[in-house]
Amino acid sequence: MSSFLKENPRTHTCNDLTMSQLGDRVVLMGWVNSLRDHGGRRFVDLRDRYGLTQIVFKPETDEKLHSRAHELRSEWCIGIVGTVEDRTKNGGSPNDKLKTGAIEVDVEQLEVFNSSEVPPFLIEDEIDTAEEKRLRYRVLDLRRRPLQQNLIMRHKVAQATRRYFDENGFLEIETPMMVKYTPGGARNFLVPSRLNPGSFYALAESPQLFKQMFMMAGFDRYFQIVKCFRDEDLRGDRQPEFTQIDVEMSFATEETVQAITEGLMVRIFQDAKGIALPSPFPKMTYDEAMARFGSDKPDVRFGMEHTDLTALGRKENGGGVPLFEKILEDEGAMIKAMVIEKKHAETLSRKDLESLESGIVKQLGGRGLGRARIGDDGAWTQSPFAKQISDTLRTAINEACKVETGDILLLQFGKPKLVHTVMNGLRLHLAERFGIIDALPADKKWAPLWITDFPLFEYDEDEDVYHAAHHPFTSPQMGHEDKLTSDQGNCRARAYDFVLNGVEVGGGSVRIHDQAVQAKVFDGLGISETEKQAKFGFLLEVLKYGCPPHAGIAFGFDRLNMLLCGGTSLRDVLAFPKTQNGTDLLTGCPTPVAPDQLKELHVMSTAKEDTKKAAPKDKGEAA
Ligand code: AMO
Repeated sequence: MSSFLKENPRTHTCNDLTMSQLGDRVVLMGWVNSLRDHGGRRFVDLRDRYGLTQIVFKPETDEKLHSRAHELRSEWCIGIVGTVEDRTKNGGSPNDKLKTGAIEVDVEQLEVFNSSEVPPFLIEDEIDTAEEKRLRYRVLDLRRRPLQQNLIMRHKVAQATRRYFDENGFLEIETPMMVKYTPGGARNFLVPSRLNPGSFYALAESPQLFKQMFMMAGFDRYFQIVKCFRDEDLRGDRQPEFTQIDVEMSFATEETVQAITEGLMVRIFQDAKGIALPSPFPKMTYDEAMARFGSDKPDVRFGMEHTDLTALGRKENGGGVPLFEKILEDEGAMIKAMVIEKKHAETLSRKDLESLESGIVKQLGGRGLGRARIGDDGAWTQSPFAKQISDTLRTAINEACKVETGDILLLQFGKPKLVHTVMNGLRLHLAERFGIIDALPADKKWAPLWITDFPLFEYDEDEDVYHAAHHPFTSPQMGHEDKLTSDQGNCRARAYDFVLNGVEVGGGSVRIHDQAVQAKVFDGLGISETEKQAKFGFLLEVLKYGCPPHAGIAFGFDRLNMLLCGGTSLRDVLAFPKTQNGTDLLTGCPTPVAPDQLKELHVMSTAKEDTKKAAPKDKGEAA
């Protein structure tokens, strides 16, 4: 083994050297990024996570070394000793794009730590290699600058978070990952207990109950940057293991939690991105968000808001449109509209509108897309309803939606859930298609928003039961306690979400600190007395011993980083992410285990039968 490292400790990174070090003897380590010959000299761009430095092998410095340098190849890991020189004096030209662009290092000593096989893709900023391949060779992918920058950002966000909470008197305390299984929230990953045959731990989907118990124990300000595990269907913004910034405060209301964590967001943006987020953040109730945007996480950076036409439609008995008449027979149905202003409408042909209907609208579950292009006198053209609709209803709709000549009116009608899904999806799709977000000025790029006054329960039509909309430890709003078991649909929660640019980044609530109210919420959820005791007995028990009022929130750390890095997938900000079917393509997990191992865990696998039945759902595409 060579004594190079012992004799030549690294003096600088590949992003340090400038004209101030001219003539210095330096030691650099890194990877061969690129190689070229020029004027009889061998030039190498040496790369580390900090940047690039040009090093040069000159025959006049050391002829043997110069010819050895011709053996070097991309991604070899090397160390060099050399002298810093002025590029221009050597006949080169400076590179203004690099911090080290004015100098080069004349190499006097070379150590090859390791050669490299030809990598399966180029280690460059922009590559179009399939993501599957990049995940398979994630270590090489992580050598690329954009991913390195993202992980550096992640580090900065974590450090800003820790500094901020420490300054504000919060304690970072860890909670168990292997926990008791409690029904309710997301599906849990289970871990069989070898020592307790037939029993399982759940991997914590969040530290919710533990942080509440910290409050009961008197640790009045808690935070944790913590791993959470959820066995959910995965998407671009969902991973099976992800990280939260978890927060809980005693003697706090929703406003206390919002104010302190708003300060955290401001600090993170300042420290990690140098951006001053305007604070206080606006607040919007859940009802308003649904009415205006059809979403509880609206992107409020652009218009195309919804107009509810249900009342107008009812007043006019459908206004001669048979579809409206039929839809409105259903008491719960609604009609909503959205306007595409002329300048964007002009870019959409009749055919484009047809393909919106057969494409995105159908994908979102919609049956069709009602539409009309507005003519000079408010007439509807290119519309299936043009010949049916009465002048009165058409004029009333035009006025309600404030349309102008050349605009396009889009309509959806039916059950609110579907209407909202389609209209919200369509709004986001069109904003992207029209390039509205990209065209926003810098001071309009970030739209933080609090959503408040959520429903406490969500009705599950298929099972005819209510589920907790947030989680079952969320406090009902004051005065709503009586609705807990009799009028769940109208019971509101002291819950709030933090939304950034249309992404749900955080969610929290004021918790129940009263044993009787907690028991009543379990009743409202249809949890039986026995189940209540079996699953949540420990919580009801500790609530008896002087529980303080408390509230909290958790932020999706990965989602926040994804937004800060300008990414569209959590895979952009996770070092070793999983694909849509929950696999890690680098290590190849999960894997089957030997029957003996299962036996030791008192577990038997039925996988063969199940996999035979199950249709192959995805082909390893990334989530
Ligand atoms: P909630 O379930 O809303 O609340 O989660 C909080 C935030 O965590 C992020 N998140 C995820 N990120 C990546 N992948 C996932 N699978 C995933 N699931 C959630 C989201 C979300 O807003 N204990 C409560 C918080 C509280 O009440 O204090 C909780 O976990 O950004």
